[in-house]
Amino acid sequence: MTAPIIRSLAELRAMTRGWQMAGEKIGVVPTMGALHDGHLSLVKAAEESCERVIVTIFVNPKQFNNPEDLKNYPRTEEDDARKLRRFSVDAIYVPDGDEMYPDGFATTVSVSGLTDVMDGTYRPGHFEGVATVVAKLFLQTSASDAFFGEKDFQQLQVVRRMARDLDIPITVHGCPTIREIDGLAMSSRNLLLSDRARVTAPRLHEEMERIVEGFLGGQDPAELTQAAIKRLQAQGFGDVDYIDIRANDDLSLVTAPDPARPARLFAAAWLAGVRLIDNIAVE
Ligand code: PAF
Repeated sequence: MTAPIIRSLAELRAMTRGWQMAGEKIGVVPTMGALHDGHLSLVKAAEESCERVIVTIFVNPKQFNNPEDLKNYPRTEEDDARKLRRFSVDAIYVPDGDEMYPDGFATTVSVSGLTDVMDGTYRPGHFEGVATVVAKLFLQTSASDAFFGEKDFQQLQVVRRMARDLDIPITVHGCPTIREIDGLAMSSRNLLLSDRARVTAPRLHEEMERIVEGFLGGQDPAELTQAAIKRLQAQGFGDVDYIDIRANDDLSLVTAPDPARPARLFAAAWLAGVRLIDNIAVE
């Protein structure tokens, strides 16, 4: 099915009004395009639990703390629309910058606490940009359900907190990370990796699994992490922004396994100019 591409909020609202009146569940999958199987798994989840599905594509300038990164971000709208044809998507919402942030736009949504760590410190302003655009997308689409990947777990928790705090009546679903056959977490940024870097990239996930295994076996997380960073850098990785074990709920640091408190290992590392992030459950 070919879904209509909607570029204006007025048109989107005209469409969703009828769905709401009919009491239909509306699922939204917010994306920045360059769709891969990870995104498509979110569309599938939305399709399975909602009568209506909206995929949004908007490369949100407010969440890029680096202008080069924004410029280089892949934009593949035609391809994206083609990939969505095999799903029952009712609308692809592709607003432009002026539709999303008209002249005089002055509001920022900021979530404290969860954004004080990891990407919140390494990418200043990033989560304010995310929370602002996602709050707008939730309100614009009138969605009852939203679907996000666990690949960006910190983002998922920030979005959940934001929706709860602002009383936006929406259920936020976290869906499992989809990986390439060699373990690399799917990400639109993988398109930016050179052939050589693409071969090295899965080492990050390998090292992460090794750390979790050692941690659960009683080894010291700081030592495990230091050894992993050395090995990654010997294989061509650059700066490692963080490798942390943190609790799922408040993202506080965890120093010893606690079966009563779910935790994840989070990592962000640079490889040939591309910043890779990943996280896996500690279990
Ligand atoms: O995860 C993303 O692609 C973006 O951060 C999101 C949620 C679409 C907001 O721009």
